[in-house]
Amino acid sequence: GVKAFIFDLDGVIVDTAKYHYLAWKNLANQLGFEFTLEQNELFKGVSRRRCLEILLDIGNFTASTEQFERWLIEKNEDYLAYIEKMDSSEILPDVPKVLSYLKSKGIPLALGSASKNAKAILEKVSLLPYFDSLVDGNSVTKAKPNPEVFLIGASNLGVSPEDCAVFEDALAGIEAANNAEMVSIGIGDKKILSEADYNFNDFTEIDINFLDRLIS
Ligand code: G6P
Ligand code: MG
Repeated sequence: GVKAFIFDLDGVIVDTAKYHYLAWKNLANQLGFEFTLEQNELFKGVSRRRCLEILLDIGNFTASTEQFERWLIEKNEDYLAYIEKMDSSEILPDVPKVLSYLKSKGIPLALGSASKNAKAILEKVSLLPYFDSLVDGNSVTKAKPNPEVFLIGASNLGVSPEDCAVFEDALAGIEAANNAEMVSIGIGDKKILSEADYNFNDFTEIDINFLDRLIS
């Protein structure tokens, strides 16, 4: 059975995907083009740098290194202004139920996120104490769908990859979990996350029986 769980952050634990979207959209609009929710799907699980490259491609912009770095900073400052106002009311429904059930069973938990803001966000919403290991955008070099982020998480928890399950809302994240040979659990649109081993719209659909079956 599954011996450890790894959680993505954005779009799984908290709905920060909407703030990332707003910050990228603000930048696009400032540069004079549109950025749609559909295009935003491609940004989920993708590093800040890679997102900016894709955004500039969409708008047909090229940038000097200096300009590129400035836009990265601008986007993050904009994003952080949204994060600033977050509190535990922005934890997605039933996430604490699942976290505390797994904790009560003594199951080790890790965070596996591409975000460099992960620790600050967990602190904001008071969920930091649940996690035995944080693997975030500051500790990985290879982006999802590369399995690095989840493999480091498994290794930090002292569990082999096949004994881990991953909660993910991004296609790249499900692919990363599959590439790590972990159990992949898609949270969100089943059509987008069809490669996952299991699919749920959100944590309200995850019951204790499902978790018990995985860990037994
Ligand atoms: C997560 C989000 C992405 C975001 C990335 C980097 O993976 O799903 O949309 O681009 O983190 O986040 P950061 O907070 O470092 O800009
Ligand atoms: Mg995500």
